[in-house]
Amino acid sequence: MKRYQVIAIDGPAGSGKSTIAKLLAQRIGFIYINTGAMYRAVALVHKRKKGNPVKIAKELNIMFKGEKIFLGDEEITDKIYTPLVSKLSSDLSAITGVRKALVQKQKELAFSFPIVMEGRDIGTVVFPDAEAKFFLTASLEERAMRRKLQFSDPRPIEKIKKEIEIRDRQDSTREDSPLKPADNATIIDTTGMDIEEVLTLILRELKNKGII
Ligand code: DC
Repeated sequence: MKRYQVIAIDGPAGSGKSTIAKLLAQRIGFIYINTGAMYRAVALVHKRKKGNPVKIAKELNIMFKGEKIFLGDEEITDKIYTPLVSKLSSDLSAITGVRKALVQKQKELAFSFPIVMEGRDIGTVVFPDAEAKFFLTASLEERAMRRKLQFSDPRPIEKIKKEIEIRDRQDSTREDSPLKPADNATIIDTTGMDIEEVLTLILRELKNKGII
């Protein structure tokens, strides 16, 4: 069976991947998949019930319905974006069994529809043969500020910066599937750029490649 087209968007926390991937998918009529939400959902279940994280990942019944994320019948969209779940998702994402279970689910999705998938290892591990790969970055200052505004986080910016820094270090130094650009990814430093500018760059490249 042949899979549909895949556009991979990777990058560190707060690099704008979610916003860009979501809008891009809407514009080109692909389905948007947020793999970070899968790791976060595993962390939420583990925080509540403890238990074996690999088993939790294997049994994860996560569904994306428009902007909303569900675990079975429960809407978890806001519940997975707390500082505690952010840290725990990064911790649990270093476990190979957890990654294997979620990567399997991610791969299967491309057999149902064309996708824009965002995460940390999409271009390197999940779809090394993706039709297009982008790696978004931005300065730590700007990423922390975007997080603060996006989630109306009342905490001091220095605290948010520290959290992002710790999570990025953890995500990029783990043994299994560390955060890094794929060799053939287009790297975009979005510092000082607005959303439309980034989208324009990506759309131009997709046109050049004949994907749209
Ligand atoms: O994209 P995010 O910040 O919502 O992701 C939360 C955590 O999940 C991130 O710190 C590391 C992990 N993650 C991962 O290891 N691989 C992915 N493809 C996506 C997220």
